[in-house]
Amino acid sequence: RRSTTSSAATKTYLSSRGFSSESAPERKVAILGAAGGIGQPLSLLMKLNPLVSRLALYDIAGTPGVAADVSHINTRSEVKGYAADEQLGQALEGSDVVIIPAGVPRKPGMTRDDLFKINAGIVKSLCEAIAKYCPNALVNMISNPVNSTVPIAAEVFKSHGVYDEKRLFGVTTLDVVRAKTFYAGKANVNVADVNVPVIGGHAGVTILPLFSQASPRANLSDEDIKALTKRTQDGGTEVVEAKAGKGSATLSMAYAGAIFADACLKGLNGVPDVVECSYVQSTVTELPFFASKVRLGKNGVEEVFGLGPLSDYEQQGLKPSSLS
Ligand code: NAD
Ligand code: LMR
Repeated sequence: RRSTTSSAATKTYLSSRGFSSESAPERKVAILGAAGGIGQPLSLLMKLNPLVSRLALYDIAGTPGVAADVSHINTRSEVKGYAADEQLGQALEGSDVVIIPAGVPRKPGMTRDDLFKINAGIVKSLCEAIAKYCPNALVNMISNPVNSTVPIAAEVFKSHGVYDEKRLFGVTTLDVVRAKTFYAGKANVNVADVNVPVIGGHAGVTILPLFSQASPRANLSDEDIKALTKRTQDGGTEVVEAKAGKGSATLSMAYAGAIFADACLKGLNGVPDVVECSYVQSTVTELPFFASKVRLGKNGVEEVFGLGPLSDYEQQGLKPSSLS
């Protein structure tokens, strides 16, 4: 049951997206790692999303508390918590979108690659379950290192004969969120109006914001652009250092993850022209996976966009030599 107020808010939200609340399709979202630093605020934000009708919260520790807490919020979705390995199948069954923030975060001095050993195993076992219980779901991979966890997921799905490159996404939305925020501050424009594509990958110099394509346009110096690029590339480290051993970005990541999952749901629901940057299987460069703008639709990725015109500085950033 919903209260009148939340029902009215839901109606406004849905009608602004071309749905009446009666016609909004049933959509199940599962969050794996739901009790973690990202998982908890992400669970909250997905509970606030009226496009979700069922929200499955899975973690190996702490799920019952998070699920009970979130379930009291008077919005559309029905929330269920799943706490142990043997409940993972139930958590996943019928899911349209699976979001994966399960795994260990960085501490100061670590690179994202230092997380590989532990997180590769976690992602592998979760993707094996996805292959079995909801092979058609759109998978939003947050766990680091994204540049590796996405190819690992692809291999797991291939080995189970269920790989569909249109349905696997590395979530790089936080890089876009950061680029927008930093650009708006420097260019002194309204952050709500800002768009900045971010291409490449999700680690250090593989993160390449395209400020030459930023809108609204601003007359920034080369030095400004370099500083903005570096700050975007080092945004994760900035947070890791500020948290001083207590983990990495969680709140801004939950926000970014919620935006990306919402875009996936809109695409599935047939909303036209849903475009976000994401790390996907790609032929845009010689690399098998690459982040660029993608159009989301009923099958997941409907179109991977090319890079568009790049400045000399951005072209330099794309060269393999700049990555070594
Ligand atoms: P956290 O330690 O606070 O939470 C991780 C959660 O995963 C914990 O609750 C843990 O119990 C759970 N978990 C571990 N193994 C699991 C399994 N097999 N199944 C289900 N749940 C499991 O960490 P966090 O701060 O939430 O970060 C999670 C991951 O997200 C890290 O790898 C981090 O580097 C990454 N991250 C990515 C981005 C991005 O932009 N893509 C941004 C921030 C963080
Ligand atoms: C981020 O960009 O904040 C995440 O990838 C977490 C990290 O380790 O930096």
